[in-house]
Order: sequence, then C-alpha cells, then structure tokens
Amino acid sequence: MATDTMANPAIQNQAKTRVFKNLIDGKWVESSSGQTFENRNPADTRDLVGVFQKSNKTDVLAAVDSAKRAFAKWRLVPAPRRAEIVFKAAEILGQRKEQYSVEMTREMGKVLAETRGDVQEAIDAAYYNAGEGRRLFGPTVPSELPNKFAMAVRQPIGVCSMITPWNFPMAISSWKLLPAIVCGNTCVIKPAEDTPLSTFNLVQALMDAGLPNGVINIVAGHGPDAGMPIVEHADVRAVSFTGSSAVGRLIGTKAAESFKHCSLELGGKNPMIVLDDANLDLALEGGLWGAFGTTGQRCTATSRIILQKGIYREFTERLVERARKLRVGNGLDTSIEVGPSINERQLLKVLGYVEIGKKEGAKLACGGNRLDQGGHAHGFFMEPTVFTDVDAKMRIAQEEIFGPVVSVIACDDLEHAIEIANGIEYGLSSSLYTRDVNKAFAAMRDLYTGITYINAPTIGAEVHLPFGGTKATGNGHREGGIGAIDFYTEWKSIYVDYSDRLQKAQIDRVD
Ligand code: UN1
Repeated sequence: MATDTMANPAIQNQAKTRVFKNLIDGKWVESSSGQTFENRNPADTRDLVGVFQKSNKTDVLAAVDSAKRAFAKWRLVPAPRRAEIVFKAAEILGQRKEQYSVEMTREMGKVLAETRGDVQEAIDAAYYNAGEGRRLFGPTVPSELPNKFAMAVRQPIGVCSMITPWNFPMAISSWKLLPAIVCGNTCVIKPAEDTPLSTFNLVQALMDAGLPNGVINIVAGHGPDAGMPIVEHADVRAVSFTGSSAVGRLIGTKAAESFKHCSLELGGKNPMIVLDDANLDLALEGGLWGAFGTTGQRCTATSRIILQKGIYREFTERLVERARKLRVGNGLDTSIEVGPSINERQLLKVLGYVEIGKKEGAKLACGGNRLDQGGHAHGFFMEPTVFTDVDAKMRIAQEEIFGPVVSVIACDDLEHAIEIANGIEYGLSSSLYTRDVNKAFAAMRDLYTGITYINAPTIGAEVHLPFGGTKATGNGHREGGIGAIDFYTEWKSIYVDYSDRLQKAQIDRVD
C-alpha cells in the first residue's frame, strides 16, 4: 500500500526553500502586503514545495496597470507572430515535461502519470492555439447593396483575468491563457493557492519563448484578497473562472456589475450509465478510472454509476472488489494509483459526505475511512469509497463531493437512467456503456450535459473540442477549441462602401 516518503527525493529538496514572487511587467516582485504563504505537498506536508506572495488589492492594481500598458503594443503584434511564441513555449514545455510533472505531483498530489497528462494537455493546448494564430476566422459575406463589402473580424477584448483551480493546475491555466494571448489580449492570472507553482512553470515557459513583459502577469494569493479585486477592476474586460458553483455565482454577479465578459466553469455530478448489454469488463475499468482517477477531484469525475438491474449485482461486486485493491499513497511512487485529497479541509468535507451517505441510508460497500498510519501519516488520504443502493435523490447522489467517493444507483432501462442522469442541478459530463447503437444515439441526444462519452468514462476531454456544461455547471461559455477563441475575442463587423454614393441598407430596396 503506502510507501515511506522519507525515501523520496522531494523531501530531501526542502532544505532550499524556493520563494516565488509575483510577476508584474516582466519583473519578479514581492507583494506589498509583506506576507507570504506556503505551498506544501498534500501527500506529505513535511515537503515544502515553495513560498508564494499573499497578494492584495495594491498588487492587483499594479498587475492590471502593467497588462493595460502591454495591451497597447501586444494587440498590434500580428496574430501569427503571437502564435509563434506559443508554439515555441509548447516545445519548451515538452523539454521540461518531466520536471514540471514531478513538481505538480508535489504540489497537487495526483500521481505522476496523471501530472504528465496535465502538462501534456498544456502542450496540446499550446499547439492548438498556435495554429489558431493563422486562422482566427471570421465571416466575409456578400452585401445586400451593390459595391459594398461586408465582413466581421475578431478583435481582442483588452485585459483579461483568470482565476484557476488546483485540480488541473497547468492544463486549466493553459486553456485560459493561451487562447487569450493568441487573440491579442493581455492577462492577469491568480492561480489556485494550493497549486500556484504549475502556473508559474507554464508562464516561465512562455517567457523563455519570448513573451514580452506585461502580457501575462501573475498575482498569487487567496480569493477574497487577490481574486475579487481583479473581478472588480474597471479596466479588466473579461474574467474566466473555474471552481465551485458557489464562488462562480459570486464572481458572475460581481462581473455583471461592470458588464465584463465572464466565463464560468463550475461543478459537476457526472453519471456513467451501464446497460445490461454493455461490455462489463470495459465499463468496470472505465468506472474505476472515472471515479478514482485524480482521487475523484475532477469536475468531470464519475460520481454516479447508474446500473441497469440485470447487471447491477455483478458489476457492483466487481467494482467493490477492485476499489478495495487500489493503492493509495504518494503519487511520486509509480506503483500508487490514488493520491491524497488536496488539503485537510477538502478531506474533511469528503469524509463528511461519507457520514451523510450513511445517515441517508445508502450502503457503504467499501472504504469511507481516513488513512493516517505509516506512509499515510503526513498526508490527506482516505480509502476509495463505494456507496451502493443509493437513491437518486440522496445528497450523495446530488451534490458535488470532489473526492474518491462514488454512488451506485439502480435503473430499469435507458429512459429511466437518463431521467436519473439529468435529475441534478449540474450538467458537465455524462457517459453511457452499451453495444446498442440506437440507444447510444438516443442518449447522445437526451443526456443534458456539455460533454457525453459513449463506451468511455466521464473524463478524458481533448483540448480542441468545447469543454463546459449546462445548468449550474456554467453560464453558457465553453473552453477549449473554438469556444475559447469566441470568448477571448469581440466581433467587429466592417462595411466598406465603394459605390461613391449614399446607400441605405434596408431602405433602398424597392419591391
Ligand atoms: C476537470 O474535470 O476538472 O477531461 C478537467 C478531462 C481532462 C480535464 C478535466 N482533460 O478529464
């Protein structure tokens, strides 16, 4: 099971404490608060990853000012040139992939194979957005009037801000920063206080690739002190936030006061449906990966498994047997499959949901306990947990838990499964296992989520398709692919009249 992290090189590194300053106008500067905070390894809190600035409103003002000044020049750099810097950053990230992955596992806890995937996702996003620098397509349409030219071009918005989560610390920062800068915007980013280092690493790669000073500014710190002042600032024209629905509501409301563009990627309670005709071996692997990968700390995590009655018992038994065997521990040990929760507060919240599930009458089929002995003594670990006989209306089947807990619910048929799947406040991801193509297409139409997988779990989105969800999962925007380009640009429609006379649209028409 667990490994002794004292043998781990990360622990030995802590002798030299790395202090990270904010990045403003290309310079590393201390916060005017004079205060810092620590970034510690959630698998072993003796491992100090780094010390970061506890920023405040004064720091935010300086960062926005820097971004505003940089915008005057950056918007005029041709988009293909801007994109070349992003392309070069992709190559640099590729060279540093292993180092950045190890650092991410130390700050976030997820296993090394997964942090390599997170860095790879930033590389993918960089190549995709670099390509967009030569597209940024807009429509050119025929005018309804003679000798008149009509087109729409994408224009940058100005200073954009990003407030990012801790679960995909480099990938999600890249989803936001890279399309923003390719489109000609400048940025102020506040990375999650639990995992700031991976954002610093991403931005370092961009700077090493030649990003001009002030195009990206980093202000580390906490939401109320460093996040809200960014959302309130009149010169910030767009806010992109990924996190909880509760904080998203606050940010969305505040951003609306000054008519900012606002993209919210919020919670999920993602269902995986397995029908009687499914390939059960495949569905089992998918369920384990979807529910316990990233310790269940994905917005897209599989947190409800909806089983048709014919396979309910067999699938449940096999799921529980496999969940019991998952190896929990420090993600730097490559034999480990499930890392820690991000921090004590999160772990206590998840354990609290175990109590709620028990009280509600669900059957705790395995797990449910904190692990704090031996190699687990210095981290935030718990057993992978499966609740069975869950009623679709129970809190553990309705609320986002964000931990290694999955609720198994029985259903009669596909129609019933879809009713259960859609019967929650969120709508991020969903999945269906079946061999029946008719059922698959019906589900692709009727599952009311932003992402649907067939014969794959609820996780695994790729960077060039839209990412986001319905209902309380967001406010209609999408990250990834063209969705992000839409968010980080503003349309300008341009009409050029070369008739040399006054032409009146709609009015000149004679029927
Ligand atoms: C998240 O769920 O928080 O789709 C992000 C995935 C990853 C990104 C997940 N590419 O699983």
